[in-house]
Amino acid sequence: GYIFKNESDTDFTLTQNQIWADKIRDKYKNISKEEPLRVHIVVGGKELMSQEVKEVMDKSQNITLHRCFMAGEDVLKEAIEVAKSDVDAWSELTLKERTKVLMNVANEFRKNRGLLIGIAAAELGKIFSESDVEISEAIDFLNFYPYSLKKLNELDGIKLEEKGVGLVISPWNFPIAIAVGGVAAALACGNRVILKPSSDALLCGYMLCKCFWDAGVSKNTLQFIPTQGELAGEFLLKSKDIDFVIFTGSEKTAYKMLKNRPEIHLSAETGGKDATIVTALSDRDQAIKNVVASAFNNSGQKCSATSLLILEREVYEDEEFKKMLIDATLSLHVGSVWDTQNRISSLVNIPSGNLKYALEHLDDGEEWLIAPSFEDSNPYMLKPSIRWGTKKGDFCHMNELFGPVLSVMCAEDLDDALSLVNSTGYGLTSGIESLDEREVLKFKENLMAGNLYINRMTTGAVVLRQPFGGMGKSAIGSGKKAGGFNYVSQFVNISCDFLSE
Ligand code: SER
Repeated sequence: GYIFKNESDTDFTLTQNQIWADKIRDKYKNISKEEPLRVHIVVGGKELMSQEVKEVMDKSQNITLHRCFMAGEDVLKEAIEVAKSDVDAWSELTLKERTKVLMNVANEFRKNRGLLIGIAAAELGKIFSESDVEISEAIDFLNFYPYSLKKLNELDGIKLEEKGVGLVISPWNFPIAIAVGGVAAALACGNRVILKPSSDALLCGYMLCKCFWDAGVSKNTLQFIPTQGELAGEFLLKSKDIDFVIFTGSEKTAYKMLKNRPEIHLSAETGGKDATIVTALSDRDQAIKNVVASAFNNSGQKCSATSLLILEREVYEDEEFKKMLIDATLSLHVGSVWDTQNRISSLVNIPSGNLKYALEHLDDGEEWLIAPSFEDSNPYMLKPSIRWGTKKGDFCHMNELFGPVLSVMCAEDLDDALSLVNSTGYGLTSGIESLDEREVLKFKENLMAGNLYINRMTTGAVVLRQPFGGMGKSAIGSGKKAGGFNYVSQFVNISCDFLSE
């Protein structure tokens, strides 16, 4: 029988892959030079235009990349009707038939790896290696969810039935993997899906839907609705014909959804205030490498990013460690996504909210180890910065920033470090750097977060190996882990008949 295997990432150190990457760069850097791309709404099998158009820039080049037609209320209404009536009878296919289609979709993603990397770079400033792992993860979701559903289906006396219409509201920071994960899980179960991607990731959203459509999922079964978040909240969520929502975004929005529709099945991945604890018994070189990658890759725009570095006092007072942390951070080149030497490129949005506040204020006793600054005065090109001496209850201890800002705290011992992490109210990821088994055990038993990492980065969960999802303010609603065996169980109605015998 079929055995699930994770998809391999591209090894960009190989010459042939560098040549491939150069070709992608040449093509997608210039993709909109003559005429900006156009992204349509796709509802009921039709590609639609509208009066409201959103314009998106390639921030590395300051040129208009694409114009996207935004859906209004009438279109949303039609989308719900089409989804509800299951025009193309997707739910009537057997699991085996649906699995086959989703495996074809996975192949379509394999074929389009270069295209997706190119457009994520242009639309979101995401560097190639960061998108590459996302595409592998998307392929994993497409293969894994039907497989996990099959395992559930094989249980004696269990009967599974699709829930109906699923709304997937996906984020811009993982514009491909998270959207594909939600869509794949919902489709595998026989549901129809409406995808509403973040309004900052519409081109990626459209292109990933195209992979589904080209591989045999109909445009009635998967509809693409670019619309502003408020309208989705106001209209889509109030409709009784939406049976479940898969959402990734802020906890505030998730709470609001539950308030509006307390009875709806909501599966929400929300924020994080993730830490890496470095004890005196760690390999300090390795700790620096993991922390710098966890904090600054994708400019820290990940709910899983390390944004608190908690050092046991001996490490906190180690001047050599401090110098290495500064040097390693300053060694990250910041600039155009189209230049291979850059490890960090543009933010998706100019700093606002918590991030802006953190860039402009220090709490008492805090100082900048590396002060924030912008590359070439481009307000999107924020360089990594480090705050030193953050204390319990400070703004940066308690609030998610979603940017390249790391706050360093001192802990007297591991117990103190654990209590600093546990007091944030979030509980998504966290890591420990320690070579001592007793410390690792204590961390595993006492740190309250969904994903715990030992001597490894806190980002980049791998499907099945590290099912992803948190607790506390980080997981609202059902709290099932993406890429784990029971994730799909949320999108089917399960009945059991073994008691009737
Ligand atoms: N799954 C991603 C990670 O592990 C976050 O969404 O980094």
